[in-house]
Amino acid sequence: MILAKTEEEIELLRLNNELVSKTLAEVAKLIRPGVTTLELDKRAEEYIRDNGAKPGFLGYNGYPNTLCTSVNSAVVHGIPKSVALKDGDIVSVDCGTFLHGFYGDSAYTFTIGEVSPEVQRLIKVTRECLELGIDKAVDGLRVGDISNAVQHHAETNGYSVVRELVGHGLGRNMHEKPEVPNYGARGNGPKLVSGMVICIEPMINMGGKGVIQERDGWTIRTADGKPSAHFELAVVIRKNKAERLSTFKYIDEVLKAAN
Ligand code: MF3
Ligand code: CO
Repeated sequence: MILAKTEEEIELLRLNNELVSKTLAEVAKLIRPGVTTLELDKRAEEYIRDNGAKPGFLGYNGYPNTLCTSVNSAVVHGIPKSVALKDGDIVSVDCGTFLHGFYGDSAYTFTIGEVSPEVQRLIKVTRECLELGIDKAVDGLRVGDISNAVQHHAETNGYSVVRELVGHGLGRNMHEKPEVPNYGARGNGPKLVSGMVICIEPMINMGGKGVIQERDGWTIRTADGKPSAHFELAVVIRKNKAERLSTFKYIDEVLKAAN
């Protein structure tokens, strides 16, 4: 099976993931105590459609919204609601697009107002896990090298790694091979080859690794009710260094201007 994309396909994936990155920055502009996750969802859908694309998650396996908004102990796949975010909350905002036959997919965990130092540290370490995973996303290494880098950094910081959900290949489908777990052994798993496009998305829990699915059929929540953080970027495997298709730079610019 050929997992690598052509440069033409990568160009279309770049358009999608650039749009996802900018959509998350639009969401960043609205982040404050009092905003509802449904308001974030409405803005994201409007921005994606204004740019000629479709929301990638809407209708995917029946998913009802544009964003997944996962608050505090929700890990991923939280459904936007008309409930206000409050001071001290964290929210993982996961966004997908569909444009020219390809998908975009990335996620960022935002802080609302003043968040405790413990939770800030969880978010910082989770973002570092993603960066360390991307460092291993190079031709000739294996998926397990990415997985192990993420797991090692999470666990040496006292956190645990969600097992039930994984990163993935990205292309004409949102979830393609290979699966990219956030735990595993170095040197294991499928070989990474130039031109493969993957989403790396550590989901890191402050407490235990266990999760439950809520009765809404979507929300994945920590079993112990402790917070969880989630970051996701799409990258192309290249010879010496992964090429990023999505970026947090637009988000970081918005957040820096606001603080
Ligand atoms: N970014 C999510 C993932 O990779 C995709 C969510 S699809 C949805 O798992 F339908 F659940 F929104
Ligand atoms: Co994903």
